[in-house]
Amino acid sequence: MTGLDLKDICVWLDGHQILFNVNLSIEQGECVALLGPSGCGKTTTLRTIAGFIIPQQGDVLIAGQSCVALPPNKRNVGLVFQDYALFPHMTIAQNVAYGLKMRGKSKQEIDALVSQFLDMVQLSHVKDRMPHNLSGGQRQRVALARALVIKPDILLLDEPLGALDRKLRDQMQIELKQLQKQLGVTTIIVTHDQEEALSLADRVAVMFEGNIREIGSPDALYEKPKDQTVMDFLGNANLLPCQVRSVSGEIATVDGPGGLSLELPRNELTNGSNVLLGIRPEHLVLGTPETNGAPHALHGKVHETVYKGAVMEVLLKTADAHLLRVTVHSQSFLEKKIQIGDAVNLTMDSQYIQVFNQAS
Ligand SMILES: Nc1ncnc2c1ncn2[C@@H]1O[C@H](COP(=O)(O)OP(=O)(O)OP(=O)(O)O)[C@@H](O)[C@H]1O
Ligand SMILES: [Mg+2]
Repeated sequence: MTGLDLKDICVWLDGHQILFNVNLSIEQGECVALLGPSGCGKTTTLRTIAGFIIPQQGDVLIAGQSCVALPPNKRNVGLVFQDYALFPHMTIAQNVAYGLKMRGKSKQEIDALVSQFLDMVQLSHVKDRMPHNLSGGQRQRVALARALVIKPDILLLDEPLGALDRKLRDQMQIELKQLQKQLGVTTIIVTHDQEEALSLADRVAVMFEGNIREIGSPDALYEKPKDQTVMDFLGNANLLPCQVRSVSGEIATVDGPGGLSLELPRNELTNGSNVLLGIRPEHLVLGTPETNGAPHALHGKVHETVYKGAVMEVLLKTADAHLLRVTVHSQSFLEKKIQIGDAVNLTMDSQYIQVFNQAS
């Protein structure tokens, strides 16, 4: 069953169009991460779902029912924002109880639910404290309990872990994922942290300029994006401008920077056309000039190296001034004693190459 449907949503704010025909369909219990550059319309999308913005065009359906005419308090939506937004003058228990009170639940029911959800986020021991006496991670867990206690049909999380340090964030990600699955609540999470999106979500949607460009499972979107902008936005990518030199049977031969010559499945490639080849830094294999002549090799010199602990980033510059980024295991790279300026080559397995047709 569909948990949430956005149909052709258009939103104008202050005379500017912000959302352009946004379509999104989320299964009941599914978690979708919404990613995109700052200002692309992620928060506007969430605010439209929650009912704080009324779209000039389109429909919002929760569990199949149109709710575009309903005010926020008549939609069963739980919201968590980056800055917690707890009520500062209420205790933790009162914060969590708030939504239940508004819904006219009995005191007995409220007490039972508040203690159940505070247990769930492991904060029963601070229930009588005020928000300012809690750590950032604890406050964020209270905000989550407060959003979930009303048993929302839809949970909207807008950069909920953005203010937390790395370690706490990693821990909260696991807790969030477990809670989301355990409660089976349909969820949209907005995040700037791509790893967070890829690890938390069942599907990832990438948004640009008020529209969803591509949506898919985390691995499909990362490994096989259909859109070059999505490939470039998600993680790191090398995008190589190339030209089809010849086509023969089912094979196309493609020339690129650094003396690259590749044979690829022909598909829709035509003789002489320009293509962009996308390959992730971890799918390039760094070799020394002795391996020259290896198939699919590209030649250049080491331009820069960046040590990152377990892995290193190596920047390679071709004679025709293209920069490529390669990820290598630090230990094995350091053992080779390669210096900046040394000649190296890169090989690649064509199965990891994404081909994007360029307008001629
Ligand atoms: N009330 C408003 N009036 C006019 N324009 C607005 C209003 N709110 C947001 N905008 C504009 O709409 C666009 C989308 O804003 P939105 O907050 O949805 O972006 P976002 O994707 O959430 O960005 P970020 O990642 O920085 O939070 C921006 O250009 C913003 O300036
Ligand atoms: Mg935002």
